[in-house]
Amino acid sequence: MKKNIGSVTALYPTPVAVVGTMINGKPNWVLVAHIGIPAHDRIMVSLAKPHYTNQGVKETKVLSVNIIDEALLKKADYVGCVSGANTDKSKVFDFSIGETGAPMINESKLTMECVVEDVYETKTFENFILEIKHTYAEEEILNDAGKIDYSKFKPVLFEMPGYTYLKTGETIARCRTLGNE
Ligand SMILES: Cc1cc2nc3c(=O)[nH]c(=O)nc-3n(C[C@H](O)[C@H](O)[C@H](O)COP(=O)(O)O)c2cc1C
Repeated sequence: MKKNIGSVTALYPTPVAVVGTMINGKPNWVLVAHIGIPAHDRIMVSLAKPHYTNQGVKETKVLSVNIIDEALLKKADYVGCVSGANTDKSKVFDFSIGETGAPMINESKLTMECVVEDVYETKTFENFILEIKHTYAEEEILNDAGKIDYSKFKPVLFEMPGYTYLKTGETIARCRTLGNE
C-alpha cells in the first residue's frame, strides 16, 4: 500500500551543473541541481536567495550552465561547499568569457551560455528563467548528426533524500518505439 509521505519533492534524480557568473570582475561558480526545462529554448535554475551567485546573476543578467560529468565532480562539489561571499572560487576552473560576458568552464564538455529572461520568486528562492544563447559541446560527445550523444557524455545526477550523486544509466529503448509495438 502506498504511504502518504507528505509534500515531498519527488522529481529526482536531476542533472548536476555549475553556474558561472561574474561578480566584481571575477567569476563565481556554484553547484546547482535544481534545474528545469520550461520550454525547448529555455532552462531554469533555482538559486537560494542568500547565495553570493544571485548578486552577480541579477547585476549582469548573464550566466553559464556547465554540465558536470564524473571527471569534474570533485571541483563541482567544492563550489557547492563554500560560498563566494567568504571564499574566492574564481580560480577553481579555467574559463573563457562568452559573447554575452558570462564566464564558461573550459573543462566542461557541455556548456550553455544564457541570458536571464525572467525571475520567478518564492519566499526563499529566485528561479531564473534563462534564454539559451549558445551551447558549446566538445566534438567527442557529439554523434555523426552533430547532436549530443548521451552514450558518450554522462552527466552526474543528484538525489536529495540520500544526498548522493548518481551515475547516468543505460539506454532502455528509443522513445515512441515501446508504445508503438
Ligand atoms: C549537490 C548539491 C546541489 C546543490 N544544488 C543547489 C541548487 O540547485 N540551488 C541552490 O541554490 N543551491 C544549491 N546547492 C548549494 C550551493 O551550491 C552552495 O550553497 C554554495 O556554497 C553557494 O555558493 P555561492 O554563495 O558562492 O553562490 C547545492 C549544493 C550541493 C552540494
